[in-house]
Amino acid sequence: MLQHEENERLCRTGPGTPMGEALRRYWTPMCPAADVAEPDGPPRAVQRLGERFVVFRDSGGRVGVLDEACCHRGASLRFGRVEDGGIRCLYHGWKFDVEGCVLETPNVADPRVRERLRAPAYPVHVAGDVVFAYLGPPGTAPAPPRYSWMDGPAERRFVYEHVQEHSNWLQVLEGGLDSAHVGILHGDEMALATLGLYDPDGIGADRYPTTDLAPRLEIEATPYGFVYAALRDAIEPGKQYVRITPYVAPYLTFPAMRSGVMRLPRDDDSTVTISVSYDPDGTPDREAILRRQGMHLPEVYGPDRVLRIPEQDRPAMAARKSFTGLDGFNVQDGAMTMFMGEAILDRTKEHVVPTDAAVVRVRRLLLDLVDQVERGEAPLGTGPGVDTSAVAGASGLVGAGERWQGLLGT
Ligand code: FES
Ligand SMILES: [Fe+2]
Repeated sequence: MLQHEENERLCRTGPGTPMGEALRRYWTPMCPAADVAEPDGPPRAVQRLGERFVVFRDSGGRVGVLDEACCHRGASLRFGRVEDGGIRCLYHGWKFDVEGCVLETPNVADPRVRERLRAPAYPVHVAGDVVFAYLGPPGTAPAPPRYSWMDGPAERRFVYEHVQEHSNWLQVLEGGLDSAHVGILHGDEMALATLGLYDPDGIGADRYPTTDLAPRLEIEATPYGFVYAALRDAIEPGKQYVRITPYVAPYLTFPAMRSGVMRLPRDDDSTVTISVSYDPDGTPDREAILRRQGMHLPEVYGPDRVLRIPEQDRPAMAARKSFTGLDGFNVQDGAMTMFMGEAILDRTKEHVVPTDAAVVRVRRLLLDLVDQVERGEAPLGTGPGVDTSAVAGASGLVGAGERWQGLLGT
């Protein structure tokens, strides 16, 4: 349970809010780089932390992130023309380069106006087929993010995003740090006889080597956040099944090996998730990934990338063919986090239990980040020498007396 004031401090991310200021001290994932793949291609409007931006790739291949509102009189640059080294506002034709320099002002004869003005522009880093921007105060940007899924050519990755409306970012992030729900909510996908209410046919995407629904959580602090292990009694006698999830503050979890999931406030009432499926030895199967998430149907996940929850299959539930009547991880997760009453969950009414330990931990950690920034310090993980390039999740069986950290090679 959280006090109302703490909950507000955690969930409000607009400019000038305590959490908003802390989050802006990290590089913000803006969009899949594929959205602005072509030089002089169409710009992409992006909303993050309650603010509106436009992302574009100029004629020379440089990616720019500017405020969406044109600095002349506020027209949206999402409609802009990207041409000849910049983006041109349609309203009066002002043109800006990726650094915000004003290149042309066709409705102003005096060239000194151009020299005086600058469009708000942000430092950009493109890596792992994701566009990152630094939205914090000038001169405070830490080193750009570096993760194992950024290695190698684009064919090794599938990057996609989806939007959950009516969900504050924290409840979506909490879902990624809540191992206990995997064996229950996602029981169909795990081919589990969840609570004896479902008869698995053995074709689940993953087969869980356990029927233990009450994992013990162990959490270790790291320089970038924490890593937590969920330990369950395995079906194999004397063994424990362990799922290990690193959390890199403030957005990223590694739910499966080297793949990454970033949950980002679009505004305080909606969340964008950018997922990276990474295969170091091959090319991820995009169709299979979207199917596994339940997002292969256009009525669930269309070009607007907004997740819609399909009608629940009650007959399948009654016939023990499905525990949830919902198909796919993201659809199941969305159904849980998009209907928690108000978009911001009222955490004064909850009752946390031991399997919620990582959820409680992330709240504490995020509140600490806010305190660190308020004290004028660099928040966790942004100082020099913090290396996240080898962070990865893991899962597997360990014997009695064996350390789960051994699965991480540490
Ligand atoms: S509002 Fe953009 S040029 Fe006038
Ligand atoms: Fe989930």
